[in-house]
Amino acid sequence: MNILDELRSRFEPVLAEWTNDPSSVIEMLKASQDAKFGDYQANFAMPLAARLDGIKPRDLAVQIAEKVDLSDFCEPLEVAGPGFINIKLKQDWLEGLTKQLVPDERLGVSPAKTPQKVVVDFSAPNVAKPMHVGHLRSSVIGDANYRVLQFLGHDVVGDNHIGDWGTQFGMIIFGYKHFLNEAAFQINPVNELARLYRLVNQLSDYHATQNAVPLRQTETENLESKLQTLETTANLTDKKIQKQLKKLKSDIGERKAELTSMQEKLTEFEQDEDLKSKAIAFPDIARQAREETARLHAGDADNLALWKQFLPECLDAIQTVYDRLDIHFDMTLGESFYQPMLADVVADLKQKGLAQESQGAICVFMEGFEAPFIVQKQDGAFTYATTDLATIKYRAEELKADRVLYVVDSRQSEHFQLLFATVKQWGFTELALQHVSFGTILGKNKRPYKTRSGDTVGLESLLDESIQRAHAIVAENDDAKPDGPELSEAERQQIAEVVGLGGIKYADLKHNRDSDYVFDWDKMLANRGDTATYMQYAYARVCGIFRKGNIDRSALRNEQAVLCLTEESERALALQINRYSEILESVAIEARPNYLTNYLFELSNLFSTFYNNCHVLKAEEEQVKTSRLLLCDLTARVINHGLSLLGIRTCERM
Ligand code: ARG
Repeated sequence: MNILDELRSRFEPVLAEWTNDPSSVIEMLKASQDAKFGDYQANFAMPLAARLDGIKPRDLAVQIAEKVDLSDFCEPLEVAGPGFINIKLKQDWLEGLTKQLVPDERLGVSPAKTPQKVVVDFSAPNVAKPMHVGHLRSSVIGDANYRVLQFLGHDVVGDNHIGDWGTQFGMIIFGYKHFLNEAAFQINPVNELARLYRLVNQLSDYHATQNAVPLRQTETENLESKLQTLETTANLTDKKIQKQLKKLKSDIGERKAELTSMQEKLTEFEQDEDLKSKAIAFPDIARQAREETARLHAGDADNLALWKQFLPECLDAIQTVYDRLDIHFDMTLGESFYQPMLADVVADLKQKGLAQESQGAICVFMEGFEAPFIVQKQDGAFTYATTDLATIKYRAEELKADRVLYVVDSRQSEHFQLLFATVKQWGFTELALQHVSFGTILGKNKRPYKTRSGDTVGLESLLDESIQRAHAIVAENDDAKPDGPELSEAERQQIAEVVGLGGIKYADLKHNRDSDYVFDWDKMLANRGDTATYMQYAYARVCGIFRKGNIDRSALRNEQAVLCLTEESERALALQINRYSEILESVAIEARPNYLTNYLFELSNLFSTFYNNCHVLKAEEEQVKTSRLLLCDLTARVINHGLSLLGIRTCERM
C-alpha cells in the first residue's frame, strides 16, 4: 500500500474548501524528517493561509485537521508551530500492515492503476567506436528506470537508439580504404576499426589545430595591443578601468595557455614520423571523411557494403558490455532504421506550415527559441533532429507509446526542448515526452574523467578495474574475520563481480542525475556510507543471522506470528519498509533512481540501529524473536529487491 497516496487522497477533498487547486499544495504532505514530528507531516496550511485573507495558518491547520477523517489508521492529528499538521500512524494498524507484507512477493507495491506504454530511449552510443565512460550514465540510469517502471506494471519498451548512421562511419570507411591493417582486421575487426577511427580522428584534429593556431595568435595579439592602449591612455585609478584590465589580462592568460597546449599537441604529433607523413599525405582528411559519409547516405554501393560489413561487428562489441552490465533492450532501432522516413517527415512539416526554407536550409522556427530546428541542411542532408522527429512518429503510431523517456546527457537539453515543442505542434499532443537529463562524470580535477594520459576511459577497462579493486577489498575483509577466512577463491571472485559492478552503478545512480559527479574509487567501494557495498553487507548480514540461527525463512513466513513494533527502532524500521511503494512511485514519475538509493541507504541505517538496539536470535521471548526475525527478513527482501531494480546484485555471504 502507498501510505502517502492514501493520506494525500484523504486531504485533497478537504483542502478544496480553501483552494480551487488542492493538487498544487498536496505535495507539501510528506514523510517527516524527524520522528518527533510524527510519521508524516503536512505543511500546506502556511501557503494556503497566505493566499487567503485574514486567517492565521495555525487556525487554518486546526480547521483542516478537524475536517479530515483519518481515524481508521492514524492517531488524532496534532497541530504544531505555525501550522504544521503532524500525522502518526496507529501502532496496531502499522503492525497489521507490516504483517501483510510477509507473504507478499510484491512487498506492498501494487501495480499501476493505469498502466502505460512507456518507451525508454537509453544508452544509445555511436557504435563506430568502443564504449567509454561517457556511456555509463545513460545505460545505468536508463536501465534502473526501465526496471522500476516495469515492476510497477507498465508496458515498457527499452530502445537502444544507437548512432549507426553518423559521420563516424564516414571516418572508419575512409580509414578502411586508406590505412587498413588487413591482418589485424582478420584477427579482431572491432579493434582494427577502433584504431582506424582514432587515427582518422587524430589526423583531422591535427589539421584543425594547425589551422586554429594562427587565429588564436592574432586574437591574442589583438588583446595584447588593446591592453597596451588601455594601460597607456586610460585613467588607471578608475575602478571600471581596473576591472577591464583585470579581465583583459586573464583573457590573454587563458589564450596563451591554450596556445601553448595546442603547440605541445602539434609537436607531440609531429614526433611520430608515421603520423606526420600521413598528415602530409592527407591534408584535407576531415572533408574527405565527410564525403565518405555523404556517399554512404546517397546509397553508394561500396560504402553501403562496408557499412553492412562493419555494423554487426560494432554491435557485437557493445553487446559484450551490456552482457557484463546485465542490461537488456527490447529493440535496437538505430538512426539508420529511420532513414527511409526522413523525406516524408520534412515534407509533412512543410505541408503543415511548420517548416520553411531559410538560407537554403529547411527549418522549424519555434516561439521562445532563438535557434531554429534544422531538419534539412543546405546540401540536402537530414539531421539528428529529423531522425528524432521520425522516431517519435514511429513510437507514437507504431509502438503506440503513451510516454517516452530520453535518457540523454544534459548538454542536449536545448535539442530536446526544441524537439518536444515541435512535436506538440506537429500534432502528437497526447504523447508525454521527458528528457531524463544527466550531468558529466568528472575526475578529481573536476574535469571530465580521463585517463592519466588524457584519453577517454574505455567502459570495459573501467569495469575490469572495479572488479579488481573489489576483489582486493573482499579478500582483505575475509582475511580479517575473527575466525579466519570463510570464502573460497571462486566465491571471492564472484563477490568481487557483484561488489565491483554494483559499486560503479550505485555511485552513478545515487547522485541527483542533473548534477555532475566526481568519480572516486575509494568512496564508491567503501564498506560504510552511501554505497552499494554497505547495503550488500546489510543484506549478507541478515542472511548470516538466519544461517547462524538455523532458521528456515520460508517456514518463518508461514508462521501465524504476531508482529510487534514495541521498540522505537522496530517501529521506525517497519515504517520505512512500508514506504517502499511510495518511493518507487516517486522514482517512476520523475525518473529519478536516486530517490530509491536514498531510501535504501536510510533503510540500511535504520536496520543497523534496530540491530544494535534489539536482540534478535537472543530475544527474551519466542514471540518477540519471531517478530524480529520477520523484520530482518523483510528488510533483506526490500534491500535485495530495491537493489535489483537498480540493476545491482547481492550475495548471501560476503
Ligand atoms: N547517439 C546520441 C549521442 O551519442 C544519443 C541518442 C539519444 N537518443 C535520441 N533519441 N536522440 O549523442
